[in-house]
Amino acid sequence: MKKHLLVTVPFFFLDVLKSSLNGAQHFEPFLIGTKNRPVSSKIHHYFSEEWVHLFTDGVVARAFGNATKVEWFVIEMEIGSWDSLIIWADRVSNVEAGLAKARAAIREAIRTKSYTSDREETFVPRGSVYRNPYGFHQSHIEMVKRFKIWTYKEGERPLVHNGPMKNIYAIEGQFIAEIESRKSPFKAQDPNEAHVLFLPVSVGHIVKYIYMPITTYDRDRLVRIFTDYIKVVSHKYPFWNRTNGADHFMLSCHDWAPDISMKDPQLYKNLIKVLCNANSSEGFHPNRDVALPEIKVPPQGFSGERRFIQPPENRTILAFFAGGGHGNIRKILLHHWKDKDEEVQVHKYLPDGQDYNELMGKSKYCLCPSGFEVASPRVVESFYAGCVPVIISDSYVLPFSDVLDWREFSVKIAPEKMTEIKRILKGIPEKEYRKMQKRVVKLRRHFELNRPARPFDILHMVLHSIWLRRLNTILL
Ligand SMILES: *[C@@H]1O[C@H](CO)[C@@H](O)[C@H](O)[C@H]1NC(C)=O
Ligand SMILES: *[C@@H]1O[C@H](CO)[C@@H](O)[C@H](O)[C@H]1NC(C)=O
Ligand SMILES: *[C@@H]1O[C@H](CO)[C@@H](O)[C@H](O)[C@H]1NC(C)=O
Ligand SMILES: *[C@@H]1O[C@H](CO)[C@@H](O)[C@H](O)[C@H]1NC(C)=O
Repeated sequence: MKKHLLVTVPFFFLDVLKSSLNGAQHFEPFLIGTKNRPVSSKIHHYFSEEWVHLFTDGVVARAFGNATKVEWFVIEMEIGSWDSLIIWADRVSNVEAGLAKARAAIREAIRTKSYTSDREETFVPRGSVYRNPYGFHQSHIEMVKRFKIWTYKEGERPLVHNGPMKNIYAIEGQFIAEIESRKSPFKAQDPNEAHVLFLPVSVGHIVKYIYMPITTYDRDRLVRIFTDYIKVVSHKYPFWNRTNGADHFMLSCHDWAPDISMKDPQLYKNLIKVLCNANSSEGFHPNRDVALPEIKVPPQGFSGERRFIQPPENRTILAFFAGGGHGNIRKILLHHWKDKDEEVQVHKYLPDGQDYNELMGKSKYCLCPSGFEVASPRVVESFYAGCVPVIISDSYVLPFSDVLDWREFSVKIAPEKMTEIKRILKGIPEKEYRKMQKRVVKLRRHFELNRPARPFDILHMVLHSIWLRRLNTILL
């Protein structure tokens, strides 16, 4: 007799519906979308290597396992309940059973536009800034309740179990420290109860301790250290081999982090990469990987820092940027705008006596151009300053895009339109600007760094992004 598992695949409603089998690769399974459910009830399955993609029109889940061995039966459901699908499998772990319950709870929350929780909820996400506020809220509740992460113990500091805590790569060290803290509620006591396993290797520290002072940009040593780590844990434990890394993740904010897989892409093809450098033209897959927000933690920490948030009517600068000219986009930005315009204030170095945070706090729009890599700490700083972020980048996958609808609170300007910044921003009606500004202030909580982490803050949002990817993967 086969065990019987009801897996509900609730929330992968897409903005763009595709129904052809060949379209499966292009699905974005992690979006908690807002569109109405399509009426079609046909469930397809589609194989690509050891992955099985299950989907109805517009709904997709990925399952990892040997489909021939496990014997899949994907069946058609009645019209009206198409978003349930039944899978018979030889074995179903407790971990998978828990995830199935979480999926069911999320589906129910979306259906009833409410939530269920064992504890008092201090924050209830609502409004158009969320793609699906009910799905997101319940998913966050389920994460806090269930999500367990095993961090491998192998390896020594400072390259492993430690990372940069200050400056622009800080999120890397802060995340590692948080997740390795004895107090973290997400810590698995045993790898067998974990939903995901973490490789706590710090690319930031490898660069700092192995490459500095810099004499070579060759990535060989970086690649070797990371790959050796995977070899060690995959020899010692059964977990990596079981899924070829599909329930494993690494996390880094360093520009070089995407390069770890360059020598052996096969080894890394399933690994969830949580990266600041989320460049979709460089192997970052939004449906497998996670975009990590870049935050610049000042030397004294955030506690010593003053924030200046002026009300919209006091914001006298139309657009603001101050920073170096690294990368093509910034070179062009500085070329066109540096120290040329009162309303669009673009500086390489701030004039004496001017305060960066204060200027952000009295600007309507803050320019966030890509530098050497796609991400910029200015995106998060905009939220701290109540300034509407203007994203100027190619192929940048914005953080938390699964749940946040960035169109509601940011402006996107294509790099080739940089000469038109002033015209574009002036063309946005005041009423529209006010709405966006309000939303930016409201969303600040999702970008605040707390230690220990708190519900819905930046570390919880990163964890939630990882949780969503695991939720969309069934391991058999
Ligand atoms: C899957 O299982 C079948 C039957 O046991 C086996 O022949 C096949 O080689 C397996 N495929 C993979 C990719 O492990
Ligand atoms: C995992 O696979 C590798 C490569 O096939 C093998 O060398 C290693 O022994 C396996 N690990 C375990 C724990 O069986
Ligand atoms: C806004 O500007 C006015 C006039 O300059 C000033 O009196 C007021 O204190 C400012 N508001 C804030 C919150 O700083
Ligand atoms: C993103 O990747 C593409 C393709 O490699 C590259 O041309 C581009 O410069 C990258 N963007 C940034 C900002 O590094």
